[in-house]
Amino acid sequence: MCGIVGYIGEKQAENILMTGLKRLEYRGYDSAGVAIVNNDTLHMQKREGKVNELETALDSAPIEGTVGIGHTRWATHGPPSDRNAHPHVSSDGDFALVHNGIIENYGVLRKRLKEKGYTFQSDTDTEVLVYLIEEVQNEAGLALPEAVRQALTQVIGTYGIAVVSASDPDLLVAARKGSPLLIGVGDGEYFLGSDAAPLVEHTRQVVYLSDGEIVTIRRGGYQVRTIENVPMEKEVHELEWTLGEIEKGGYEHFMQKEIMEQPTALEDAMRGRVLPDDNKIVLGGLHDVMDDLRDADRVIIAACGTSWHSALVGEYLIEHFARTPVEVEYASEFRYRNPILRDGDVVLVISQSGETADTLAAVREAQRQGVMCLGICNVVGSTIARETDAGVYLHAGPEIGVASTKAFTAQVIVLAMIALKMAEDRTLSHAEFADAVHALASIPDKVRTTLEMDGQIEKMANIYRYSSNFLYLGRGFNFPVALEGALKLKEISYIHAEGYPAAEMKHGPIALIDRFMPVVFIALKDSTYDKVVSNIEEVAARDGSVIAITDEGNGELDELCEYVLRIPQTQEFLSPLLAVVPLQLLSYHIAVMRGCDVDQPRNLAKSVTVE
Ligand code: F6R
Repeated sequence: MCGIVGYIGEKQAENILMTGLKRLEYRGYDSAGVAIVNNDTLHMQKREGKVNELETALDSAPIEGTVGIGHTRWATHGPPSDRNAHPHVSSDGDFALVHNGIIENYGVLRKRLKEKGYTFQSDTDTEVLVYLIEEVQNEAGLALPEAVRQALTQVIGTYGIAVVSASDPDLLVAARKGSPLLIGVGDGEYFLGSDAAPLVEHTRQVVYLSDGEIVTIRRGGYQVRTIENVPMEKEVHELEWTLGEIEKGGYEHFMQKEIMEQPTALEDAMRGRVLPDDNKIVLGGLHDVMDDLRDADRVIIAACGTSWHSALVGEYLIEHFARTPVEVEYASEFRYRNPILRDGDVVLVISQSGETADTLAAVREAQRQGVMCLGICNVVGSTIARETDAGVYLHAGPEIGVASTKAFTAQVIVLAMIALKMAEDRTLSHAEFADAVHALASIPDKVRTTLEMDGQIEKMANIYRYSSNFLYLGRGFNFPVALEGALKLKEISYIHAEGYPAAEMKHGPIALIDRFMPVVFIALKDSTYDKVVSNIEEVAARDGSVIAITDEGNGELDELCEYVLRIPQTQEFLSPLLAVVPLQLLSYHIAVMRGCDVDQPRNLAKSVTVE
């Protein structure tokens, strides 16, 4: 949420900041700005709207200078406007600051600063931070890095910040608490990013700032301290992402690219882990904790959004194979409802970004209660990945489209591996385990085949693009897929959609059915097929327009349904990996046809680092 970029070195900063902001735009896109220091003066440009608006403004008035910061905003306090866009500048015009996060005690601080004579130019909580630093600096006559540090000790809330100063042009200060920040280490130059996207084309060497740390960067080097002023030695890590992975590579949208990449993403998620020749599953990241996980009395999975949907599939998988009771929690509820955790519980969190504030809070709640917490994350080195006791990376590659697609399928496949590993030699016979391992290995090719129906789905989308409501129904392993299909449609096309377990339809949603209500059924030839077909009959009898996802070769539904999409057969537990694909494609094409901004849907941001 909100993107931060920074540069200090010998090159012109404007270009580096602007390319960085474009790569970060998926984190927020309602306004953008840069501040660059040149000849001991701070030069700034900011604009409401997407980064392109800022670029146009800079094209007509470029800014020179070799140190600067940039920001792309997702509004929390104050509507999107030039005035509320970051950076914000101190009242004496000396320093500029960009901020990601929320200052919770901003009301108190703002009142105090107003009484001291500061005049606020914006509605943001960030401006409070700027004047607070200025106040501390002036009162104690401190250098800027120390003033930033001392000011932050008065702040309640979350922040990732970056600061540059006109009077100290060889300085970039950054600090984090709750909002990610990375330092890119170059040769005589340093970069700053709220994630790796703006860094990859410049350097592969990065330092992850941890919560409660502040860094002073000069062209000659950098120094990290804690907010309590204790110097820190930080490890330099090698970035995994490549430039190709964060570019569209010929696709129109990142979401489209990421849907199409799923076969490879799944292969990557299973590489070295699913070994069909040896009938083995190897999960190195869980090696030391696997016995505890297998012996767990209960697994509690906490996540948000799409990751919460994969958690639900995980519940079905773990209970089905390992026979361990599972509870799935919205991380945002789990953190505040004083959950009961006991000895023998294991908490498992799932997060693509590894930065979601509520999911991170669930990790900390588990740790506070002394319960082992495992993580499934995509972004290597992310906060959740670093703070959990052990875990599994998805290795699905960067997901840039705001609507999650390949992360969902990669999460499901990782959960399937975990469930099977928990069940190996316990609840599953050797033959059953081997069968499941082979089924896993065959999934990427089946996803490839499923993707071939893209053209057919595009034609269907042309019919349904004008609908204003959709229902998605599924059962068993595919109930969460119904939820995910509905979420995909509403978030990128702004069509209202609901997902339900198919049998729940009779308990309410059936009242909505008429000829204007498309109902998408996941009706695979599995243990609940006959029941789902009865539900289809009920919808058809009320003139609802049925789209069914069923198995290759199944012609039984043709009479009842408007459209039937056939996916390859697989073992029931893996069917979500195939059934979700046509739903992703349907929402993608409908959104494109409705002229929606698929990769940057209104009001959303990729990584929700605020509560
Ligand atoms: C939906 C979507 C969101 C995320 C949610 C959790 O398409 O992307 O619902 O799934 O914000 O994000 P992560 O997985 O990064 O914790």
